[in-house]
This record gives sequence, structure tokens and C-alpha cells, in this order.
Amino acid sequence: MHASAKRQTMPDVNPANLDFYRDVVTGLRASPCQISSKYFYDQRGSELFDAICELEEYYPTRTELGIMTRHAKDMADVLGQRCMLIELGSGSSLKTRVLLEHLADPKVYVPVDIARDHLHKTVRNLSSEYVGLEIVPVCADFEKDFAIPVSDTETHRRVIYFPGSTIGNFEASAAESLLERIARWVGPGGGLLIGFDTCLDKAMLEAAYNDRLGVTAAFNLNLLEHINRELGADFQLADFRHRAVYDEAERRVVMWLDSLCQQKVTIAGESFHFAEGESIRTEYSHKYDLEIFRQTASRAGLMLSKYWTDDSGVFTVALFTVGE
Ligand code: AVI
Repeated sequence: MHASAKRQTMPDVNPANLDFYRDVVTGLRASPCQISSKYFYDQRGSELFDAICELEEYYPTRTELGIMTRHAKDMADVLGQRCMLIELGSGSSLKTRVLLEHLADPKVYVPVDIARDHLHKTVRNLSSEYVGLEIVPVCADFEKDFAIPVSDTETHRRVIYFPGSTIGNFEASAAESLLERIARWVGPGGGLLIGFDTCLDKAMLEAAYNDRLGVTAAFNLNLLEHINRELGADFQLADFRHRAVYDEAERRVVMWLDSLCQQKVTIAGESFHFAEGESIRTEYSHKYDLEIFRQTASRAGLMLSKYWTDDSGVFTVALFTVGE
């Protein structure tokens, strides 16, 4: 792929979308070209992701929920009383409810999400269900630093809840720096309860990311639609095809959009040329071996306290603690 007509002036994009624009053009100028998976989640992308979670082939969501339902009491006992529970990427907080049901006297719940509307809806729903629980929403991108809110309510420890195997979408160095930041956010004695994918079965993984109904394909292609709408680009969705492959050596599923013909795409006045068969990388989804994950977390200052898995070990929820 090559880019032409590089712009010298400010691009014609809404100032609110400047970071999005810069990330996209920088990624497309790179070789091999790529677009960050964080841009999947516009309204339609979030709906498609919810549909993926319901798919027969997509095992992570139901497996993690099963682990939470089965072991929430044990998890709550290890977390102890009066904690401040901070959830990264809270979404609709489905798994959190399972945890909140069992926590002994949780004091403060801090959902952190970049989607403001979604966040406030969750807060409204949870406040009516959990009387006495202080809910302090934070609208932030947790890939960057943000301040943990100060509460007047006395709490014993901070615990970050990071479910959904979202950590798998970070490259190794970014995952490690996020874990370091988490250790700082919770401080000495604090905890991290995290869900990650431990499936290493190629056939099962490729089925999960190439589902028969084509929902994952629609989710992947919607990224181009999102760019068209927000950055005034002219991607022709019919000229790209979804592909997901498990790379055993790197232990990750890689999602691609393959160009089906030689074509030119324009984004805010800059042209990008794609050859037939050329691919845009749109997502890494890392799969972990528990021991490797334990070592990574320990380098970030997080020590494994306890973990829970399903019967076939395809998903793990683990509690890490920062030394006092
Ligand atoms: C959000 N994330 C953990 C999902 C995953 O499995 O990596 C996103 C996803 N991509 C394709 N299907 C689901």
C-alpha cells in the first residue's frame, strides 16, 4: 500500500476526531498497514460485539460468566469487606452484578468507560438495584492515565475488575504498561481481578473469530463504515473481506481486512492505494498460558493470589495483589 498527496495543512475533519484521524492515517501509512481495534466500537460496532457474545462459536463470554457465577462467593471472600471496586470498560456491567451480589458490604463502585451514554445508563440501573452502594462513574479512556475518584466513604482496599479478556487486545508491551498503571492505581494492598482467554485450540479459536453467521465479519467491516462516517472516507465495504487466523507461535488471533481488488481510498484528502490481496490488520487477540500471564503481571508488581477456570481451562479469572 502506498499513500499519496500527503497533506501539508490541517485535515478537514471534526476537531473531536483528530486523534482518530491521526491514528488511522499513521496506521495506513505503516507497513504492514493496520487500524487500531479500539475503533470498532461505535454504536453499531458495540451492538455487533454484543451479538458476537451470544454466538455459539464465541465461547469466552459465556465461559467467563459461568466461572463468575460458580465462584463469585469465593472471589468475594478473597476480596474482603468494604472495597472500592473499579471496573475498566464497564459496558453493561453484567458480570459485575454477579460479583456485587456476593461482595460483603461493597462501598464504592467506579465504572470506567469511554462511552458516556452507556455509562450513565448503567449507573441509573445499578443505583436502583444496589441501595447503599456509592456509584462514581468515570468517563475516561483507560489506555491513558486518569485519576481514581476520591470518596468520603471509608474503604479498605481498591480492586480493579477487568473482565472480558480485553487485555488480550493489547500488544505485549502495552499490556505490561497497563498492568503497571493498574498496580499504581490500586496501590499497596490493592487488587486486580482479571479475566483472560486461555484457549490454545486452533480450530476452536478460528471458529470463534470466523463465525458461520458472519457477525464477526460484519463487526470487522463496520470499522471501515465508522471511518467513512467520522472521517469522511470512501472505503467500499464490498471490496474488502474479513479474515481471522490463529498464529500459534505468537499465541494470538489476528484479524485482517483483505483488499479484493486494486483500489484507491481517500481519507480527508489523502489517497491510499491498496493492491489486490493486500491486508489491513485490525485486531490482535492474545491467548495466554497462565504461567506466562503470571510472570508478566509479576514484572508489573502484581502477585498472583488465586485463580479460577472452567472445566476445560479455556478461560481464567485471576486475582493479583500489590504487596503492602
Ligand atoms: C473485546 N475483545 C476481548 C474481543 C476479542 O475476543 O478479542 C473482541 C472480538 N473480536 C472479534 N470477536 C470479538
